[in-house]
Amino acid sequence: MSALPAILGGEPAVTLDHGYYTQWPIYTEEEVDVVSDLIRNHALASQFGGPGPITELEQRVAETWGVKHALAHSSGTASLRAALFGVGVGNGDEVISQSAIHPFNCLPIIGTGAVPIFADIDPVTLTLDPEDVERKITPRTKAIMVVHWPGCPADMDAIMDIAARHGLRVVEDNCISQGATHRGRMCGSIGDAAAISFQHGKSTSAGEGGVFMTNDTEVYQRAACLGHYERLRELPNPKWRAMTGFSFGEKYRMATLSAAIGSVQMKYWKQRLDVRHANTDKLGEAVARIDGFSAPDYPDYFPSPYQSGRFMFDPDRLGGISRERLLEVLQAEGAQVSSPAQKATLTPHAGGLTHMLHKHPVFQGNEHGTGDVLWEVLGPNVTKIDYSSVTLPVTEDPEIPYNSIRVPSFTRPADELIDQYVAAFAKIATNAEKLSGALAETR
Ligand SMILES: Cc1ncc(COP(=O)(O)O)c(C=O)c1O
Repeated sequence: MSALPAILGGEPAVTLDHGYYTQWPIYTEEEVDVVSDLIRNHALASQFGGPGPITELEQRVAETWGVKHALAHSSGTASLRAALFGVGVGNGDEVISQSAIHPFNCLPIIGTGAVPIFADIDPVTLTLDPEDVERKITPRTKAIMVVHWPGCPADMDAIMDIAARHGLRVVEDNCISQGATHRGRMCGSIGDAAAISFQHGKSTSAGEGGVFMTNDTEVYQRAACLGHYERLRELPNPKWRAMTGFSFGEKYRMATLSAAIGSVQMKYWKQRLDVRHANTDKLGEAVARIDGFSAPDYPDYFPSPYQSGRFMFDPDRLGGISRERLLEVLQAEGAQVSSPAQKATLTPHAGGLTHMLHKHPVFQGNEHGTGDVLWEVLGPNVTKIDYSSVTLPVTEDPEIPYNSIRVPSFTRPADELIDQYVAAFAKIATNAEKLSGALAETR
């Protein structure tokens, strides 16, 4: 292999086909068999809490997360809605959440009739900034909705402390971060209630689906009353048991087929997660030893500095290179590096979804009156927020997380490919001077 960077005419360092190593989700004949059996046996009806794939999935999730209750839902979104309803969020309440994330983290808040209050995020973890959360608390605040990124948990010590001091409930959005841990505890098992997603791209995948979880039996019973009218007969509290056959017009149960796929996925989930983590740790440790690159400076509650798949680069040690140029140079080497999610998610209306939600016309208003719709839907009990005056300096900064890039998640043992990535990073460091000269000429 030529030592010259590919962008300067050398041979690319990364030559292996990524397809096998990054394939996700991984389905096998086992999923095909369970699905085929269900269809052949005409067994697609929901089992209403009886034995079958849904209960099996719920038991697997409860055991894995170490929680008392798990309830399968049609989506992660529905599970979040159940979690909010379960902790008692209702019309007129305020729930503090972050703006730069998939909008369906926050939108279930509106579904409960409550008002989302956006707090800023920490520039390194990209999760809620506890200090800003505390500043945003009002007498109407009922809950805090935290998001955990994969390998990048929110500051649960600080959040739980704030919640305890102000009498607030905490809902954990664990939809994209199944397996993230905080001081050794599974994210999703720390707050009052949580949701994981089984949507196709998530790390537990069943096409669509979600699971709500909690350790609080009252929260569980209340949540079950929203969308699970046929499963309330066994609830211990007669107040909730008497809700049998009633679910406020919502129906949130998971499809049996999805639950069957999810249940098989859960069997292998930890094993597959360990492979991913072993890969990120191996790649991370090797890249962090290369001059000019390092692991992000994460807080001490992180399980590993590498599981987020992000690296820092130091432009001063790499000939003044910018993030865009570094990506270009590494991509020319064949490495599938990208800008960390946050940069992409800061684009309003990216792919039809608004990932910087406070900028959405529903909150900002427009000449068509879209801004009035929110207040019409939420009704007269809510205290209106002037979202046009909401500024979130970190969230709105397109450069965060500063000087960092993302590597792909390798889902199968990938030693050879990892070695090629390390070679690509090393080549950039060794040729930093040459690259900066060449890049300066092209500017
Ligand atoms: C952070 C976050 N929360 C919630 C959801 C909603 O999950 P689902 O697609 O299962 O409804 C998503 C979906 O991507 C998400 O990224």
